[in-house]
Amino acid sequence: MNFNDEAKEWDTERRINRAKQIADFLKSKINFDNKSIMLEFGCGTGLISNHFLDYFSKIIGYDQSDKMLEVFNKKFLEEKDRVIGINNIVELNSEVDIVISSMVFHHIEDINQSLNDIKKVLKKHGELIIVDLDLDDGSFHSNEIGFKGHNGFDRDLFVKQLSLNGFNTIQVGTVLQDKKILSNKEISYSLFYVHAIKID
Ligand SMILES: C[S@@+](CC[C@H](N)C(=O)[O-])C[C@H]1O[C@@H](n2cnc3c(N)ncnc32)[C@H](O)[C@@H]1O
Repeated sequence: MNFNDEAKEWDTERRINRAKQIADFLKSKINFDNKSIMLEFGCGTGLISNHFLDYFSKIIGYDQSDKMLEVFNKKFLEEKDRVIGINNIVELNSEVDIVISSMVFHHIEDINQSLNDIKKVLKKHGELIIVDLDLDDGSFHSNEIGFKGHNGFDRDLFVKQLSLNGFNTIQVGTVLQDKKILSNKEISYSLFYVHAIKID
């Protein structure tokens, strides 16, 4: 999927509703005490970050698509002193309390690189919550020609990968089960989450 091409039309009713469901779920898992800086990894147009404006003093949206970021930054223009979308996180140095990421990792070829980048921006014992697609048979992205990502993830293998990259998983579970229509066919899918802590 070319996210730059999709950016302007990204905020459909279906995606807005699903983002609210996911954000509500994330809120139920986060202990907000002593946390002031959140980073959303793969923030897109900010459909998830939007629900956290009252919960953190600073929100950093990171995305590799400049067009998605354009929509993100326009959406939060009035909050631009504390909500900012960026396309590079190498300069953030161990300052982030919590990283959240929703529906991004299955698009990433080199997951180890991304986990390493996340580790660097997190404070000591910082938290990471990833929401993503459970392993599927390829149906979820069947309308995307040349899709190079992952057809979801096996939860146990994902937890192992986190561990290899310096994260201790504290919880894994189901976020939601849903259906979507693709080429007149109904596709069932489910999303899982992992809640992990940076080890050192
Ligand atoms: C399916 S969208 C999800 C957007 C948002 N998290 C949401 O739930 O509405 C995936 C997003 O991840 C971004 N993305 C994909 N690979 C990325 C990477 N390696 N680093 C940062 N962002 C990435 C895409 O540009 C896109 O905005």
